[in-house]
Amino acid sequence: MYNSKITGLGFYVPENVVTNDDLSGLMDTDDAWIQERTGIKERHWIPKNSDDTSAVMGAKAAKIAIRKAGLTKDDIDFIVFATLSPDYFFPGCGVQIQEMLEMDTIGAIDIRNQCSGFVYALSTADQFIKTGMYKNILVIGAEFHSNGLDKTTRGRGVSVIFGDGAGACILSRTEDNKKGILSSHLHSEGKHADKLIVESPSINNWVPEIIDSKGEDISFYPYMDGTFVFKHAIVRFSEVIMEGLAANNLSPSDIDLFIPHQANLRISQFVQHKFKLSDDQVYNNIMNYGNTTAASIIIALSEAFEKGLIKDNDLVVLAAFGSGFTWGSVVIRW
Ligand code: UT7
Repeated sequence: MYNSKITGLGFYVPENVVTNDDLSGLMDTDDAWIQERTGIKERHWIPKNSDDTSAVMGAKAAKIAIRKAGLTKDDIDFIVFATLSPDYFFPGCGVQIQEMLEMDTIGAIDIRNQCSGFVYALSTADQFIKTGMYKNILVIGAEFHSNGLDKTTRGRGVSVIFGDGAGACILSRTEDNKKGILSSHLHSEGKHADKLIVESPSINNWVPEIIDSKGEDISFYPYMDGTFVFKHAIVRFSEVIMEGLAANNLSPSDIDLFIPHQANLRISQFVQHKFKLSDDQVYNNIMNYGNTTAASIIIALSEAFEKGLIKDNDLVVLAAFGSGFTWGSVVIRW
């Protein structure tokens, strides 16, 4: 069996920065509340006149990752694209990447696991490499949230949190079984699906029904029971990190860099304190990007690597929790 390692990283966020003060011009909120409850100072939102979408941003991040891996598009065997905000209801963004990057007719799949999307995507790609089926896989996480948010006071509990952006990596075959992805652990608990959901349009409640409701039906906006999600997040994050470490006979003190899904700075800090990790052992960038869902871990990983915070042989732990509920961790020896 082969092992897989990350050989190239890249990310892209739209230039347009939206500060907390900008949001208080749209709804009844303020910088102090947002920073205190979430840690977020600003996020990037695609402006109205832009051509950026989840697929377009994903393609931009992918081009960087392919170049950084020292490869060309023709070296890529497969595409895995994680998003909850695809350009189309179907087909998925993965096939758009195949076309946008003018790749051969390689396979492409979309992963629908929200905030855990990148962890699920990386684990999926890892399995294809381990079995020997593919050598180089392009893994993308991208989200275009801003156009789908309720930017009125009614939606403030959700809309101030989310940002747009994309990240990508190349996962490549390695014969070195001590390096690369050591393990991944994935979980779900569908009974809590309604706690963080975009319910419509669905086949049961399609566009004509929503229009017929004359504004009564707002189930096309994301709904989140924030407190409920928060309480489950801190438990599941902790469990799945320990599960990943234990599977490799490691302990929290062995972690060189922990990159949590950027859901809320308070969640990251809770986990940091629970595992007695120093500030140097944890990377957070939610302050500048907000929660970019499937893109958040890969944007943070790319940024941390660019800053020189990840060195050869470092133990890097990724963990995520989100809508579904879904959660998971990936343990990497860099
Ligand atoms: O990434 C996927 C997973 N998602 C998460 O992990 C998110 C987990 N949850 C959270 O991060 C937090 O629950 C939130 C940041 C979403 C909310 O923070 P909270 O401390 O749980 O606040 P809350 O929802 O309990 O609301 C407290 C108060 C309410 O007012 P009342 O009822 O106490 O008068 C809200 O109406 O804050 C109000 N509020 C706001 N005020 C100003 C809610 N949103 C805002 C806002 N600005 N943007």
